[in-house]
Amino acid sequence: MSTSPLAHLAQQVTDLLTSIAALSTLEELRDAEASLTGKRSPLASLQKSLGALEPEARKAAGAELQEARRVVETALDGQRALLARAARQSSLEADRLDLGDVVVGDVRWPLSVGHPGLISLTQRELEDVFVGMGFTVADGPEVESDWYNFEALNIPPAHPARGLWDSFYVDLGEPETVVLRTHTSPTQIHLMERAVADDSLPIHSVMPGRCFRRDTPDASHLYSFHQIEGLVVDRGITFGDLAGVIETFTRAYFGPDISSRLRPGYFPFTEPSAEFEVTCTICRGSGCRTCSSTGWLELGGCGMLDPAVLKAVGVDGEEWSGFAFGFGIDRCALMRHQVSDLRALIENDVRFLGQFS
Ligand code: DAH
Repeated sequence: MSTSPLAHLAQQVTDLLTSIAALSTLEELRDAEASLTGKRSPLASLQKSLGALEPEARKAAGAELQEARRVVETALDGQRALLARAARQSSLEADRLDLGDVVVGDVRWPLSVGHPGLISLTQRELEDVFVGMGFTVADGPEVESDWYNFEALNIPPAHPARGLWDSFYVDLGEPETVVLRTHTSPTQIHLMERAVADDSLPIHSVMPGRCFRRDTPDASHLYSFHQIEGLVVDRGITFGDLAGVIETFTRAYFGPDISSRLRPGYFPFTEPSAEFEVTCTICRGSGCRTCSSTGWLELGGCGMLDPAVLKAVGVDGEEWSGFAFGFGIDRCALMRHQVSDLRALIENDVRFLGQFS
């Protein structure tokens, strides 16, 4: 009696199921498919061997084989679904983007963290110094009427001093001419007007801000630049107070080996007026190209409030006196950090800016 070709079918199916369960990736499954259920599989060989059987026996064996194939294929499909789910899960894990993840200082990629630019930094440092000296910080508009930018500051129309401030005109019309402020001095006017209106004199304030002039940009001029204005209005204020404030500020901001000096100057809104200079920050006073061998660098202007300005804002010059000063924040930054060209401040070159983080 010849043995049935399906004598070992149960064992073969068990072996196939064991092999299927051992497949660990979709690639492995794809590679093994032909040998498990395809033309090269034991089931396909068995199928062929059934041809030798009597029709009755062939039918019964065929049904048995078909059932075996169904079991194996179901197992294969099940394994395929399992591996596909695992593959999807691990690809999701790999792509995971945690928006709340803080990666400062992480070395996975070079992460550059932003920081304030040199002008903002300098402005903050200057404000800190003046706040430490008892000043408050105030703000004023960047667009001003002719009255605030010029007239109230004792610069009437056609006054030759207007040539000092080459203005960008916003509106030449009636009734008012409007300019982009050419300096921060008009903020003095706003502060004094307000203090008179709400009877809150004295004033000890600094006013930083952006200014605009129709200059040709070069190493020491920009269309748009920053100034900080200082204003003190109080009883019994003298030129000595002004000189003291300038000197205290200079040492506090630039360091104890840098001092200040005042030279006679002219500004329509102060009388007497002075230009103030500080020890050259490049050569520390010994004389160099930057300071034209004088040992001094000019920083800004100052003076005692002109009676005409006090009158324009309604401050009683019999009771109150005061001084004002103003200088470039950008220029201060250059001097403090020994940068030779103002344009470096606005070029947005990260190699330059990165030095001040
Ligand atoms: N506003 C002047 C300028 O832009 C600077 C200045 C000079 C401001 C004298 C003052 C001052 O407050 O008293 O050149």
